[in-house]
Amino acid sequence: MFREEYLYPDFVPDKLLHREREIQEIIDAAGPLVHDKKPRNVFVFGKAGIGKTAVCLNIIKSFEIESLYVNCFSYRREASLFSEILRQMGIPTGVRGIPKDELVVMFLEQAKDRKLFIVLDEIDALEDRDALYSLSRASNLIALVLISNNPMAMSKLDDRIQSSLQPRALEFRPYSVEQVFDILKNRADLVFRQYDETALKIAARLTFKHGSDIRYGLRLLLEAARRGGLEVEHIREEEKQPKRKLEGDYLKLFELIKNKEQISSGELLAAYQTAGGELAERTVRKYLDQLIVWGYLKAKERSLGRGRTRIFSIKQT
Ligand SMILES: Nc1ncnc2c1ncn2[C@@H]1O[C@H](COP(=O)(O)OP(=O)(O)OP(=O)(O)O)[C@@H](O)[C@H]1O
Ligand SMILES: [Mg+2]
Repeated sequence: MFREEYLYPDFVPDKLLHREREIQEIIDAAGPLVHDKKPRNVFVFGKAGIGKTAVCLNIIKSFEIESLYVNCFSYRREASLFSEILRQMGIPTGVRGIPKDELVVMFLEQAKDRKLFIVLDEIDALEDRDALYSLSRASNLIALVLISNNPMAMSKLDDRIQSSLQPRALEFRPYSVEQVFDILKNRADLVFRQYDETALKIAARLTFKHGSDIRYGLRLLLEAARRGGLEVEHIREEEKQPKRKLEGDYLKLFELIKNKEQISSGELLAAYQTAGGELAERTVRKYLDQLIVWGYLKAKERSLGRGRTRIFSIKQT
């Protein structure tokens, strides 16, 4: 038996290895808030699966300042973003559609006598960029952390927004193969009573080859575990899967995802069926898992309202 949950991508471990410098930089930027001084904003960027989100969530867990985390992928418009921020500040805005401007005013009112640490993840997905302007101008006592895969995400903003944010850029670089090993070992120690360390080394090397995307590594461990344990043969079985030419329904699914930047599992299933796909939902899910292990796709868990869903996108390597 093993504790699968520790291998899920949305599990955030208490201790994040090899990100001490990045954690410190963010804390230093936001730190002045503690003494009622104006903080610095930070723009965090870097490739997929290398700890950007995890680091910020980890800081929030123990930061003494009121902290909010919002993934812009789920809140793309200014109105929905501000009502989510207000909700997290304890001010429910209900379901009736309060106009955007009114929500901003409500936020400005609240921000006047609070200190806030706000993390906005996946800012590329934010459609109303003006929201960033409103946020940065609301008060001197708001520290923003903006996260993106795209190093150019900031320069895409217009000058007025850029100059009001003036974030310090903080690049997350991919982990070295040794660092990947440490991170996966840490997780394996939580999950398995016993395992083969050579298998872990191989998993680390494969993960490193995949851009050090820890999500990929965790998925490898999970697949191995489901095949019977973290053993060399089970990892090899995954490794041996050729970087194949995708065919049949694998190709169909891949193409459907390629047409979009991101797609939720529900949307994907609907598109697949519309395109004449005949596999059962359960089988489709297996195919998608396999595409992740092969390094074609990445998936993230998102909570949407009451449930959870997976969002798929093409893995750029
Ligand atoms: N240093 C680390 N120590 C332990 N776990 C880590 C570390 N870095 C990443 N992880 C784990 O790897 C997974 C992916 O990390 P995270 O979600 O932070 O990636 P990301 O950089 O935000 O990627 P994306 O750009 O795709 O959103 C998470 O499950 C996270 O807990
Ligand atoms: Mg992330």
